[in-house]
Amino acid sequence: MAQLTLPKNSTVGEGKTFDAANGATRRKRFVIYRWDPDGGDNPRTDTYDIDLDKCGPMVLDAIIYIKNEIDPTLTFRRSCREGICGSCAMNIDGTNTLACTIATASIKGDVKIYPLPHMEVRKDLVPDLRHFYAQYASIKPWMQTQTPPAPDKERLQSKEDRSKLDGLYECILCACCSTSCPSYWWNSDRYLGPAILLQAYRWIIDSRDEATGERLDDLEDPFRLYRCHTIMNCARTCPKGLNPGKAIAEIKKLMVSRSI
Ligand code: SF4
Ligand code: SF4
Ligand code: FES
Repeated sequence: MAQLTLPKNSTVGEGKTFDAANGATRRKRFVIYRWDPDGGDNPRTDTYDIDLDKCGPMVLDAIIYIKNEIDPTLTFRRSCREGICGSCAMNIDGTNTLACTIATASIKGDVKIYPLPHMEVRKDLVPDLRHFYAQYASIKPWMQTQTPPAPDKERLQSKEDRSKLDGLYECILCACCSTSCPSYWWNSDRYLGPAILLQAYRWIIDSRDEATGERLDDLEDPFRLYRCHTIMNCARTCPKGLNPGKAIAEIKKLMVSRSI
């Protein structure tokens, strides 16, 4: 059997422990991945024991409390705190999800938090999403039309056509699905991954868009689309309950139907 050895600078060590739960009746331990690109040290996990009565109920509330009251060096992204912006995506208790929508009480034992997997890390819990966003831009995520709109009307859509966007328009581009997809882990340089393909399908299926053929042409590639092997980690992990694997299957069906 092949044996893999990690480079020395990638092994994760044990870091500091902060006990801020003296006298707490609701004590909880958070074990959080830390890495500082400027320090030159290996990544580590720091441990924070906190009093849950001092912070809000969600994991994001707890890490905001840790940053504000215990360790201001802890770095993470967040914005809306409502599951809308997608910026607090991280790996919590072994699952890619949004820190603002998962209740600390729903996690048994220690709360282990890592950045989204298989992405380069900028610092602590902040992954480098530049390649992911470049892939998003590559699918031209805007309406493309040739026919000018009627001067006195918006571009209308029937209720039935509008309903085809349900399950797609809700995507917040958090990247939880793409970073849970084994095909994306190994081929993200060329495979677009579930999030971007779901977004591509959102435009392909929009009755007002007039670039369907070009959009399908762009995806007709052994890597950009066809690296999806229907493993379905993407649907299991999506914090918005969407099914990117199904959207990918629909694109493949359109590819087949236009070739016969
Ligand atoms: S499909 Fe779900 S998991 Fe994937 S980017 Fe969109 S909201 Fe996030
Ligand atoms: S269904 Fe496709 S996109 Fe989703 S996790 Fe599996 S291989 Fe990745
Ligand atoms: S902070 Fe916006 S989705 Fe969590």
